[in-house]
Amino acid sequence: MSNIFQPFRLRGMTVNNRIAMSPMLMYLAGDNGMLTDLHFVHYGARALSGLGLIMTEVIAVEPAGRISHRDLGIWSDDQAAGLRRLTDFVHATGGKIGVQLAHAGRKAVLEQPIFGPSEIAYDGQSKQPVKLDTDGIAAIVEAYRRATVRAEAAGFDCIEIHAAHGYLLHSFLAPIANRRTDEYGGSLENRARFTLEVTRAVREAWPQEKPLIVRMSATDLIDGGVTQEESLWLAKQLKAVGVDMIEASSGNIVPGYPAPITPGYQVEYAKTIRRTVDIPTAAVGSITSSELAESIVSSGAADIVFMGRELLRNPFWLINAARAANVTLELPIQTYARATSPYERGF
Ligand SMILES: Cc1cc2nc3c(=O)[nH]c(=O)nc-3n(C[C@H](O)[C@H](O)[C@H](O)COP(=O)(O)O)c2cc1C
Repeated sequence: MSNIFQPFRLRGMTVNNRIAMSPMLMYLAGDNGMLTDLHFVHYGARALSGLGLIMTEVIAVEPAGRISHRDLGIWSDDQAAGLRRLTDFVHATGGKIGVQLAHAGRKAVLEQPIFGPSEIAYDGQSKQPVKLDTDGIAAIVEAYRRATVRAEAAGFDCIEIHAAHGYLLHSFLAPIANRRTDEYGGSLENRARFTLEVTRAVREAWPQEKPLIVRMSATDLIDGGVTQEESLWLAKQLKAVGVDMIEASSGNIVPGYPAPITPGYQVEYAKTIRRTVDIPTAAVGSITSSELAESIVSSGAADIVFMGRELLRNPFWLINAARAANVTLELPIQTYARATSPYERGF
């Protein structure tokens, strides 16, 4: 029996299967941060394949939180109304859709000033960030809260807070980017304060029945980065403030990745968090075969698998995986079944 085709319930949301589309920034928006037809077709095509969950790309909670001028935003009601068209479509296909709420912090490539925990640039090509003061931090917490209210108006089923890959929240967590001496720097508790404040604000503004996910870099694998022990501590705190699932990525507090990238190279982080913290997890990273996805879910390493680049290459991956596993998928376009069942002549 295949486990990846079993439904999965997280708070009040039930997904039809355990395969999710990983957040992937498409650089398709204009400077207004509005959804375009290209986004609609890009996500809509994946929804037609029957994926359990589609997670949007990073969607910025304020203009300075974009990584580029071509990112989507959710800092205005117009943007939320544009996103509603997409969530309605995904729901009509029988799928679920989450929004990845983000602030790029010092990773942003923007003409306007960019912000970070300290005046330390992401790399040699990046702008030096302006150090956020405590009023600036409070304003960003408020931007997340407002974005959450708009995410509900836009019809999303779940929220994923992006606290990985060198984005603003991750940069506060890692000493290599955070040299502050106030209550947001120094001890782990202080470095995690901003992430926890944002998470609490989102949880309070998000309907009780809807799940909240956090994507974290479970380790940076470099000196001055987040350690696995620290991220386990953080996962426990996140669970305590109402997070329902941790999606375990790693790295990118600085450019590059300091270890080999092999199939399922981050699965062990999802597994360790799931076992140690007793919280559902999602695994991500070079998971491209149904055998690997199946073994991740069946072995209890993670509850759900996020797939990125494979779904860019092959939007209908799930239909082929179902066919190989002899599973009948409920598809929104019934006629697709003619491509998976025995060939019947006569048309
Ligand atoms: C084109 C592209 C854009 C991405 N954009 C995002 C993003 O918006 N947010 C995020 O958290 N990760 C982003 N990622 C990382 C993916 O979500 C995923 O974690 C990574 O690609 C590893 O999974 P994969 O090997 O299945 O692609 C992006 C990756 C790619 C290839």
